[in-house]
Amino acid sequence: MHLHFSPSMRSITISSSCNGSNNNGNGFVDLMKIKVAARHMSYRTFFHTILILAFLLPFVFILTAVVTLEGVNKCSSFDCLGRRFGPRLLGRVDDSGRMVRDFYKILDEVNSMEVPDGLKLPDSFGQLISEMNNNQYDARTFAIMLRAMMDKFERDINESKFSELMNKHFAASSIPKGIHCLSLRLTDEYSSNANARKQLPSPECLPLLSDNSYYHFILSTDNILAASVVVTSTIQSSLKPEKIVFHIITDKKTYAGMHSWFALNPASPAIIEVKGIHQFDWLTRENVPVLEVVENHNGIRDYYHGNPVSGTNLSATTLRDFASKLQARSPKYISLLNHIRIYLPELFPNLDKVVFLDDDVVIQRDLSPLWEIDLEGHVNGAVETCKGEDAWVMSKRFRNYLNFSHPLIAKHLDPEECAWAYGMNIFDLHAWRKTDIRETYHFWLKENLKSNMTMWKLGTLPPALIAFKGHVHHIDPSWHLLGLGYQIKTSIDDVEKAAVIHYNGQSKPWLPIGFEHLRPYWAKYVNYSNDFVRNCHILEP
Ligand SMILES: *[C@@H]1O[C@H](CO)[C@@H](O)[C@H](O)[C@H]1NC(C)=O
Ligand SMILES: *[C@@H]1O[C@H](CO)[C@@H](O)[C@H](O)[C@H]1NC(C)=O
Ligand SMILES: *[C@@H]1O[C@H](CO)[C@@H](O)[C@H](O)[C@H]1NC(C)=O
Ligand SMILES: *[C@@H]1O[C@H](CO)[C@@H](O)[C@H](O)[C@H]1NC(C)=O
Ligand SMILES: *[C@@H]1O[C@H](CO)[C@@H](O)[C@H](O)[C@H]1NC(C)=O
Repeated sequence: MHLHFSPSMRSITISSSCNGSNNNGNGFVDLMKIKVAARHMSYRTFFHTILILAFLLPFVFILTAVVTLEGVNKCSSFDCLGRRFGPRLLGRVDDSGRMVRDFYKILDEVNSMEVPDGLKLPDSFGQLISEMNNNQYDARTFAIMLRAMMDKFERDINESKFSELMNKHFAASSIPKGIHCLSLRLTDEYSSNANARKQLPSPECLPLLSDNSYYHFILSTDNILAASVVVTSTIQSSLKPEKIVFHIITDKKTYAGMHSWFALNPASPAIIEVKGIHQFDWLTRENVPVLEVVENHNGIRDYYHGNPVSGTNLSATTLRDFASKLQARSPKYISLLNHIRIYLPELFPNLDKVVFLDDDVVIQRDLSPLWEIDLEGHVNGAVETCKGEDAWVMSKRFRNYLNFSHPLIAKHLDPEECAWAYGMNIFDLHAWRKTDIRETYHFWLKENLKSNMTMWKLGTLPPALIAFKGHVHHIDPSWHLLGLGYQIKTSIDDVEKAAVIHYNGQSKPWLPIGFEHLRPYWAKYVNYSNDFVRNCHILEP
């Protein structure tokens, strides 16, 4: 922050300095240049302006303070000035020109010095003025105060950017009332309404669950509303909905509610199966040892439940780093529901090819051509995420996810390798069963635990990037558009053209912090005439 007063004192420039406090150096970015029109204002107007603007714009306060000083000539009596500023600030009033120069000198001097630690600052600029009026400061103290307050002001603004991100993070990790209500009421319905408990799918359809002539979709989520949107949008966009089988995996606590929803709102002609993770015999501790470790690891518990700001050096952290740290702390990254996709070949032993969907996607096009794509022997059909222009979402390489200062990572991986996206993947389970992807995944999870999570921060994508290395087939980017939960500037044109849109990022469409103009693409698949949705006041303004 740098103040510059023009020699005539007719204008003031406030700039942010890029290289030191050199008055005339290059690299200044002018923030504000204000012309002073002192002569046209009465003293009284000035004083009110100071009071009003002081609260809004500290910069203008300085301006007006200086202008007032310059207006010394206009003030005919000593009393007129003395009442407001006191003799200590003004120095010798008979030489106003010199006084203004002195004040300028002091400001300049103070500007390049360190503000003393522990300086007690007034709470507001209003208070500064009133203390000044009460004759408490000499010019130098006043200038230091002013400087310190402006620094503090700037720091507060910077910190508020971090707290804004943090508030968003907590908003994104908590469950909105409406969605919670939906889950509770549907769970209640499960115990009270026999229709909500009816078998899914009906017994005569059971063989279809492992019939490879059908299109099998797998969705793993504890969010019933999100699941309903994924299923509804898939079916409405499909050219052959009668050939669709949905396998919905959920956790134990959501199972009853999820089952009620799909029992009461059958997605016919598609087939729906709802399974809780507790119902898969294969998901035992012996088979999934690492997850047990992951979920119980103390360090991780601290990591997730600690305060993300404590221990973060804000002045050494960029907003973007902070945002990605917060994202890595999202509780969903330690849930088994999120890791479950690495066990698809074992969980669905009879299926050959499946599409795995995240719960924050919307399907806008028939997806059956995905099954026709020749994966050329690869396991995972995914879109690459390093070829776009957008730095937040589409320029991701291995180095963005993995710590290449770690010797093991550096030894085995290429930092420039293009990353790919989870969210909508076509998996060839048949080819997958011939690989050691799961073992590799486990190996790296364990190594990361051993290294105190220094290889990557938690998440399911980094170990998957390693485990699927050499097993990924890149599909056309128009299949899967990412980033709708990250940025407001997603192109509507792209959104409308994409087969699948993905609200990855914090601003989920079911949260109040979702982006309003992107929400309709999701919300149009919410059935607002459904009693449960209506009674839970979901997404009502
Ligand atoms: C506030 O942030 C800006 C840009 O991020 C930085 O240049 C400035 O030094 C920060 N100010 C303080 C007081 O931390
Ligand atoms: C924060 O980082 C800045 C810049 O790297 C450094 O000068 C400062 O000492 C750090 N503060 C703490 C508390 O570590
Ligand atoms: C991990 O952290 C623990 C305690 O914080 C420490 O004793 C151990 O040496 C660390 N291990 C590695 C590989 O850094
Ligand atoms: C990356 O790995 C190095 C070496 O193990 C470690 O010192 C560093 O703290 C790690 N960085 C992060 C962000 O964990
Ligand atoms: C919406 O819900 C109502 C009531 O449950 C149901 O009758 C209707 O068929 C549903 N509409 C769609 C498009 O699913």
